[in-house]
Amino acid sequence: MSKLRVLAAIAFVVVIAAAIAAFAIAWRPAIAAIEPPAPQSFDRALVKRGRDLAAIGNCNDCHTAPGGKAFAGGLPVPTPFGTVYSSNITPDPDSGIGRWSEAAFRRAMRFGVDRAGHHLYPTFPYDHFTNVTDEDDRALYAFLMTRPAVRATDHPNELSFPFNQRFIIAGWKLLFLKGGTYKVDRSQSAEWNRGAYLVDGLAHCGACHTPRNGLGAEEANASFSGANVENWHAYAINAQSHAPVPWTQDALFHYLRDGWDADHGTARGPMAEVTANLSSVPESDVRAIALYMASVFGPPPQGRAGPAKGNGAQAAAADQPGAAIYQAACATCHESDRPLPYSGIDLRLSTALSAPDPRNAANVILSGIRPVSGERSPIMPGFANSMTDDQLVALLKYLRSRFSTRPPWSGVDQAVRNARQTETVALKTSRGSDSAPGGLMQRDKP
Ligand code: HEC
Ligand code: HEC
Ligand code: HEC
Repeated sequence: MSKLRVLAAIAFVVVIAAAIAAFAIAWRPAIAAIEPPAPQSFDRALVKRGRDLAAIGNCNDCHTAPGGKAFAGGLPVPTPFGTVYSSNITPDPDSGIGRWSEAAFRRAMRFGVDRAGHHLYPTFPYDHFTNVTDEDDRALYAFLMTRPAVRATDHPNELSFPFNQRFIIAGWKLLFLKGGTYKVDRSQSAEWNRGAYLVDGLAHCGACHTPRNGLGAEEANASFSGANVENWHAYAINAQSHAPVPWTQDALFHYLRDGWDADHGTARGPMAEVTANLSSVPESDVRAIALYMASVFGPPPQGRAGPAKGNGAQAAAADQPGAAIYQAACATCHESDRPLPYSGIDLRLSTALSAPDPRNAANVILSGIRPVSGERSPIMPGFANSMTDDQLVALLKYLRSRFSTRPPWSGVDQAVRNARQTETVALKTSRGSDSAPGGLMQRDKP
């Protein structure tokens, strides 16, 4: 054989081998369907634990469409590649996971494969859930299998070729899915390890706070450096934090547990859903998360102990067009002596005004902060109907120059236009657990 032919033959063999390998990697067997287990067959204490774990995992937020039944799926989750709809994870035998065994559920959590063997999109954050222990998966399974079964129609995803081909997810996993349950760090306390296990796993904090690469995977060297989600900026929550007052373990605990902290203000947008869930789980878990995150932030950098309170405004030009708007519409609340969270925070403490872009500030000014029904909670009116885009732009520029020590924002006009478009984004307040998963054993009540 000529050299060329040998090369061609080798190339052919390599291509076939690669195709077989790709198929072997991509192929996952189906796991046999089971008869839906009776809700009474699950231990109550296990279901209760599963309920708390589900709250930490925000399963309710992604798997419940606005106005829809809890866990019945159908929520459109936007990605740079198109829209993926969340699945029905109630125990309906046909449209939900009623026929999934615990092994099938665990495989989905750990490897992102459904019962029939299809690869699932990592919009379902199994790149985090992969670290969950067998016991915790068992509790989650018990919780979900005891929810009311809801029949739901399947929403086809809206993804373009080749992203609509599920087998390509196998390639993504090969590159980015680091399997394996949590490895304890023996040099740290049990509480720290508990926090790390939850933050990196079920709570998937990095899914919003870590920037992603071109293939939609979290950048390995930029954990918690801040990223955009649904026209919100999930701030840097590491040493690169823009918060005017450095975050401490106590402040993190209050913010995550109560949805606000005196030195940092309230949680809004997607973060309000996170804190609403965390307000209903065992306090020790939130303390562990706060302890671990404090170590991620590290000690406060030299000279950044926060703005001295009461040292008056910065020397921002009072003749800027935004100054008059601020005095008329905002100062009464934001410079009052009422206690937080009912007054507006001293805006020098606001991360929104020190953030890399103005989107969160624009969102909160347009939509305001709605009260939580039945509770005393912070209120701020929305200014969407009383302010023109030009006024809002002028106001944002003024707020930045007066209340932040950072350089002026660029692209304020565009940010205001974007915020207008997504103004319908539910701007929930954080206090209260009305979005937390329902009570125990809803199905087995007599
Ligand atoms: C960020 C949004 C998000 C969160 C949070 C989330 N999921 Fe999902 N989940 C999805 C999406 C989207 C899909 C569909 C993926 C697909 O079609 O490939 C999905 C799919 C699933 C599936 C596969 C169902 C099927 O029929 O194939 C299971 C099981 C599941 N999720 C369980 C959970 C559990 C348990 C939690 C909480 C611990 C959770 N999810 C949290 C978005 C989410
Ligand atoms: C669904 C997306 C999402 C998830 C998951 C998420 N966050 Fe956030 N987070 C955000 C957004 C968006 C903001 C900005 C909220 C605002 O402007 O009020 C935020 C704000 C914060 C802040 C305030 C930072 C500052 O300087 O003001 C902290 C602290 C924080 N998140 C910690 C966490 C922790 C810890 C977790 C995991 C337990 C977590 N987040 C999970 C989206 C998310
Ligand atoms: C009725 C009282 C009230 C008025 C009027 C008001 N606010 Fe607020 N504002 C609040 C409350 C309460 C909060 C929630 C607590 C907090 O985070 O400060 C808030 C929060 C904010 C935040 C988020 C701060 C953070 O946590 O990062 C910004 C920014 C803000 N307001 C700006 C404004 C601007 C600009 C105006 C005028 C156009 C205004 N507010 C008018 C009460 C008010």
